[in-house]
Amino acid sequence: MVLVSLCTMPMLPRAQDQAPNQLSHLSGNAFLSADLLAMQKDTSSNPVQLWLEQGRKLWGSAQQAATCFECHGDVQSMKGVAAHYPRWSQPKQQLVNLEDQILACAQRSAKPMKGLEDPDVLALSALLHQGSLGQPFQVTVTPTDKVQWQAALNKGADQFTMRMGRMNLSCTQCHDLNIGKQMRADVISPAHPTGFPIFKMSWQSMGSIDRRLRACYSGVQAEIPSPGSQELRQLELFLKMRAQGMPIDGPSLRR
Ligand code: HEC
Ligand code: HEC
Repeated sequence: MVLVSLCTMPMLPRAQDQAPNQLSHLSGNAFLSADLLAMQKDTSSNPVQLWLEQGRKLWGSAQQAATCFECHGDVQSMKGVAAHYPRWSQPKQQLVNLEDQILACAQRSAKPMKGLEDPDVLALSALLHQGSLGQPFQVTVTPTDKVQWQAALNKGADQFTMRMGRMNLSCTQCHDLNIGKQMRADVISPAHPTGFPIFKMSWQSMGSIDRRLRACYSGVQAEIPSPGSQELRQLELFLKMRAQGMPIDGPSLRR
């Protein structure tokens, strides 16, 4: 298996070394503490490695029946695929992200998975994201469904700027207007989606972008969209358009 390993990741610019107006182009990885950054670089202590290993196991091999391998061959065939999600599904007439696709495919395999945050889904998501490491997102409109795709993107953009919750704050107010500011134990990043899925120390688990977005709704005490809802997929689409040109640098660690 010659997927790019995490230790070959380019040296990241660090948030504290940048002028404030440069911060908006930085990945969440640039906001890691020195300790977490060191852990991320050290393959022997980085928990992400275990998840990648589990992902490779689940993918399966030519010797095993009804695995991902049986239909898709070597995981190399999935190189670059993660960069295209969320994409518009014509049959479903809605956006699907990578975890949705993995979950749907798991129903075709010998090992059905229980939901979007099933550790097996996340392990496979980590593996497939690693296969797109360094590539920019390429979320694009489906030629047959241009209008629907554009509407979904617009909804995501609206959601990003809409005030919500008991704190009456929008995503923009934190992630555009207060980047670099301390908020409790966190430094606010521009909320780029490049580092997902994330192993978050406070969760003691890998988590998807779906879960992270729900945590932000919870943070401002707004009604939390249900897992897998189109609202979250529309936001994900918007965030990936907003991060255009930035390389995928996940899976990664978070506080
Ligand atoms: C009150 C401030 C606040 C609001 C409002 C808020 N967030 Fe966050 N968000 C945070 C903090 C703090 C973190 C953790 C540190 C970081 O990565 O910015 C975070 C993390 C994130 C991350 C993870 C970035 C990474 O690389 O790990 C994403 C994506 C994100 N937010 C998106 C959103 C979206 C979309 C909204 C609106 C629905 C939103 N946030 C609303 C404070 C906020
Ligand atoms: C029985 C055959 C079968 C099995 C087993 C299977 N898949 Fe799939 N997979 C498909 C088909 C068919 C598609 C085309 C899209 C669709 O119909 O969902 C697909 C599409 C995909 C895609 C999207 C590729 C792209 O270019 O966007 C991903 C990712 C994927 N599968 C992952 C997996 C994973 C992970 C597993 C193991 C848990 C798996 N698949 C098991 C049949 C299978």
